[in-house]
Amino acid sequence: MSNQNSSEENRGQWGSKLGFIMAAAGSAVGLGNIWRFPYMTGENGGAAFVVVYLACVVFIGLPLLYVELALGRASGRNPVGAFRETGGGMPFIFTGVLCLSACFFVLTYYGVIAGWTISYAISQISQTTLVFEEYTADPVYVLPVFALFIALTVIIVRAGVEKGIEKWSKILMPLLFVLMLVIIIRGVTLPGAGAGLTYYLKPDFSKIDGTVVLKALGQAFFSLSVGWGLMITYGSYMSKKQNIVSNGLWVAFADTSVALLAGLMIFPAVFAMGHDPSSGSGLAFTTLPAVFAAMPAGWIVGTIFFLLLTVAAVTSSISMLEVPVSYFVDEKKARRSTCAVIIGVVAFLVGIPSALSNGGNEWLSNIEMFGQTGFFSILDQVFGTLALIIISLMLSIYVGWVWKPKRAIEEIEQGCPWFTKPLVVGITPAAVWAFFIRFVCPVVILLVLLNTLGVKIPGLS
Ligand code: PFF
Repeated sequence: MSNQNSSEENRGQWGSKLGFIMAAAGSAVGLGNIWRFPYMTGENGGAAFVVVYLACVVFIGLPLLYVELALGRASGRNPVGAFRETGGGMPFIFTGVLCLSACFFVLTYYGVIAGWTISYAISQISQTTLVFEEYTADPVYVLPVFALFIALTVIIVRAGVEKGIEKWSKILMPLLFVLMLVIIIRGVTLPGAGAGLTYYLKPDFSKIDGTVVLKALGQAFFSLSVGWGLMITYGSYMSKKQNIVSNGLWVAFADTSVALLAGLMIFPAVFAMGHDPSSGSGLAFTTLPAVFAAMPAGWIVGTIFFLLLTVAAVTSSISMLEVPVSYFVDEKKARRSTCAVIIGVVAFLVGIPSALSNGGNEWLSNIEMFGQTGFFSILDQVFGTLALIIISLMLSIYVGWVWKPKRAIEEIEQGCPWFTKPLVVGITPAAVWAFFIRFVCPVVILLVLLNTLGVKIPGLS
């Protein structure tokens, strides 16, 4: 952004088209792709989950990404301000507040996992072995790296040096991509890897049920950074000249390719090593070190990989912190730096139970709620899945029926004139998009939610 001062008249703006794409893709590509996507796939049926996930990205996630960007750019506000400014009443303002809460609460456990990646980088460089279950159960190891990661996030958001991050991401993220290709080549050439490829690429559609669809939809929102108000905030920093449609496509494409590659990196290796694909949140952390160990000079690859993963996590966590910070700066005229520090410290404190819920504390590790076991999984289900789905439902209802697609289309058209030009048989991309936002998105999301709440849907459950 060219300006970090967010007073009402003088909010920041992205320096260039690439500036926006880098920051938005930096937010989207993160632990959600490399850590969360593979274990969600492993817990929910393999290739069938991947198919549902891809459908969710294309038919629900992408249209909603445009909703958020249009709403953000039209209003020039944070999520709460965006609904208010465009005439949204109470339920929608509440949706804005839910956005802030989702960003904050997910940050509290996202930081814990990012802390693990720092420890794994250290273990690779020092060529020591971390036994996942023992390491994650030990607060002495887990808490300092968690604190370090949150401190890093706060320092960057406080200084407002995302610009520097943009510059570095341009080099580091393609490097992560290349390194993933190298790791994939090693993984798929391990003896016994074929079973993993089949598991990951050959769908068994009988595995699809309500839970799989819920998890796939939640994962699509988690990974695309859609349903958090983040894209509203980032859209508010966009100039009218920028093309929302093509920029959004780039972000979704980058995000989805990294996730698909992450699966290719993990599953062949999981099967080759005889690990359990449904073993949960430790999947990437137990599998990858074994792959590195099977490579010549694997510790170098391992060190660089975990460091790059930490960078990918930072470009995501700064955007998560940015959402509540932009709210307090915009609406409460608070100082950016003070807000960043206070929210960071509170996020660390609130994150401690998550850090202790992988064996560190028995009660926190075994507590059961919403069909999940352990404090961290419960938070992930409530804020990292359900909240995103509710926000997205409200967003599609708001733009589809209250603010009206016409307004959003006028906004998107600026910078993308072909959006309202007939493409085939007189149908415009804008009309297709509006159909998805008014009908497809709300209906599908509502059905998934009702199914989760146990409501029986004739013909579906
Ligand atoms: N999309 C990020 C990931 O997949 O890791 C997570 C995320 C970051 C979501 C920032 C939302 C956000 F504002």
